[in-house]
Amino acid sequence: MTKRKLRVGLVGLGGVGSIHLEAYRDSSAIELVAAAEIDDAKRTSLQARYGFRPYADFTRMLREETLDLVCVATPVVTHEAVAIACAEAGKHVLCEKPLAVEVASARRMIAACAAAGVKLFYGASYRFLPALRKARDLIGSGAIGEVLLMREQEIGGTGPDGRQIMGFAHYPPGGPGGSGLGLVDHGIHLIDAFGWMTGSPVASVFGRGNISGAAPSTEYLLMNFRNGSLGHLLYEDSTFPTSLPGEGIFSWGSAWSLDGYVPPGRWQSAPGTIHVHGTKGALRIHHYAHALFLTDRNGTRQIELEGSSAPGHFAAQMESCARSILDGAPVEVPGEAGLAALEVLTAAYRSFEEKQVISLG
Ligand SMILES: NC(=O)c1ccc[n+]([C@@H]2O[C@H](COP(=O)([O-])OP(=O)(O)OC[C@H]3O[C@@H](n4cnc5c(N)ncnc54)[C@H](O)[C@@H]3O)[C@@H](O)[C@H]2O)c1
Repeated sequence: MTKRKLRVGLVGLGGVGSIHLEAYRDSSAIELVAAAEIDDAKRTSLQARYGFRPYADFTRMLREETLDLVCVATPVVTHEAVAIACAEAGKHVLCEKPLAVEVASARRMIAACAAAGVKLFYGASYRFLPALRKARDLIGSGAIGEVLLMREQEIGGTGPDGRQIMGFAHYPPGGPGGSGLGLVDHGIHLIDAFGWMTGSPVASVFGRGNISGAAPSTEYLLMNFRNGSLGHLLYEDSTFPTSLPGEGIFSWGSAWSLDGYVPPGRWQSAPGTIHVHGTKGALRIHHYAHALFLTDRNGTRQIELEGSSAPGHFAAQMESCARSILDGAPVEVPGEAGLAALEVLTAAYRSFEEKQVISLG
C-alpha cells in the first residue's frame, strides 16, 4: 500500500460523525483534514478534541480544501444533495447508510458520481465488523454447509413512551421511518449483510415497515434469497425485553442498542445477535460484542477474531476506501450495494400495501 494517507473531509458531526472521528484517530492510513457541521457547539467542541479545520458550510470546505474523499454522515434526507455536491467538486464520496430514502434518489447519486468520474462508496459498516467478516469467511469455506436461514431481531424497550423515533430531521413524513433500531434505520444494515454473507441477491420479499409520523407497529421482513436461503428481521422497541438476570455477554466493542450507543468494555444483557443456520452447522454472531460462536456435530466453540472491534470498523471501512482510491483496488462496497438494499426495503413497504409477496428483478 502507498505511504500517502487518504485526505478525508467529514460532513456531519452528530452521533455517528463523532464516532468516525474517534475511529480515524487510530488509523495510519487516514488524515482527517477538515469537517463541516452546521451546529456551532458540536463543531467547536469536536474541533478542540480532534484538530480538523472546521467549516459551518460544507460547500466552502469543498472549495477550499484538497481532499481525496468526503464522508457524508448527515441525516439520510440530505444525502443526495451533499453527495452530489461532493461529486461535482471532484471528491470521492463515502455515504453513510441508508444511501437515500427513495430509490430514484439513490440512482441519481450513483449517476452523478459516475458522471463526475469519482467513486461512490456505500457505508455498509457492518461489512467491516470482524465477527461478520469471519462469519462470511466460514460460510464461504463451507463450514456450515448450505445456508438455510439468517435472522436478527431487536425487541425490547421500556414501553410505548420509550420509543426512540428518528423523527422528520432524518425521515420525511409519510415515507419510511421509525426508530433507530427499526427496519429502515437499522434493518438496512442486515439486508445488505445477509446478501453479502451468502453471496446471493434477494429474489422476493414480504414485510412491514413503519411510516415516519404515523403510529408505529411491529416491523418485520422476510427475504427469499435466490440461492434458497431465508432472511428474517423482526423489530419492536415499545415493549419490554424478556432477558433474564445474568444473560448476555461482555462486549469488547461499542454498540448501538435499545439503550442507545453503549461504549466498549461493558456487560450487555441483550447484545446485537445475528444467527445463521446451515445444513452442517450454525453461527451465532455478536457483531458489536466482537464474539463469534460455531455449533456443529462437534459441539459449540468460540472462533478467534482478527481486527478491531467497533468503532474500529469505521476506520477499516475508510482504509478500504484508501486502498481503492490510492492503490486502485476495486471499490469494496459500491453505491450499487446501497441501491440494492434500498430496493429490497422499498419492496417490503409495497408488499404490505399490496398484501402480496413482491419479486425483485
Ligand atoms: N453505520 C452506522 O452504524 C451508523 C450509525 C448511526 C447512524 N448512521 C447514519 O449516519 C447518518 C447520520 O446519523 P446520526 O445518527 O449521526 O445523525 P445526527 O442527527 O446525530 O447527526 C447528523 C449531523 O449532521 C449535521 N448536519 C445536517 N445537515 C448538515 C449540513 N448540510 N452540513 C453539515 N452538517 C449537517 C447535523 O447538525 C447533525 O449534527 C444517517 O444516515 C444514519 O443512518 C450510521
